[in-house]
Amino acid sequence: MHQDCERVLITEEELRRRVEEIARAVNGRYQGGTPIVVGILKGSIIFFADFIRHLEIPIRLDFMSVSSYGEGAASSGKLRIRKDLDSDVSGRDVILVEDIIDSGFTLANLKKLFEERGARSVCIVTLLNKKDRREYDVFPDFNCFDIENEFVVGYGLDYDERYRNLPYIGILKREIYET
Ligand code: IMP
Ligand code: MG
Repeated sequence: MHQDCERVLITEEELRRRVEEIARAVNGRYQGGTPIVVGILKGSIIFFADFIRHLEIPIRLDFMSVSSYGEGAASSGKLRIRKDLDSDVSGRDVILVEDIIDSGFTLANLKKLFEERGARSVCIVTLLNKKDRREYDVFPDFNCFDIENEFVVGYGLDYDERYRNLPYIGILKREIYET
């Protein structure tokens, strides 16, 4: 796995420090309520686990799995829900936890969905943000790292379901996905 990375983009130590910092900022926003923290499977799992450990407010957890084919060229595509929430979010504060915002298709649609379901508020927390790739209007409330337009893996992020267990964020060698 390590040889398939061109270089390490974000080290374990940088991840640890920044994730804790972001969680502390999120704490400050929710004094009083019990938000539902929703992890978007599967890419967010490692970030999610590290992030919630630094939340010092009462929370509930839930998960959702979606597929975003139809993104990009065919922007008419609708988000397909593979696994829906267990919770009813109406009247609740929701914190959506995502691994990376690329075109913005996934989160723009999810945010709309949660609003339609009557969530009281929807907050977006992302580990990575590829700003230059944005095609849909979506703004993270909390973002750990802005990154360039490069394909990254590790710390939950995959290429073809591989590399999720790398402890750092690495830039995948082009030859791996261009063959
Ligand atoms: P969006 O809907 O275009 O914003 O894409 C978000 C999804 O694309 C993420 O949840 C990832 O699964 C995937 N993705 C985008 N860029 C990368 C990357 O550099 N590495 C791994 N997955 C990525
Ligand atoms: Mg993925």
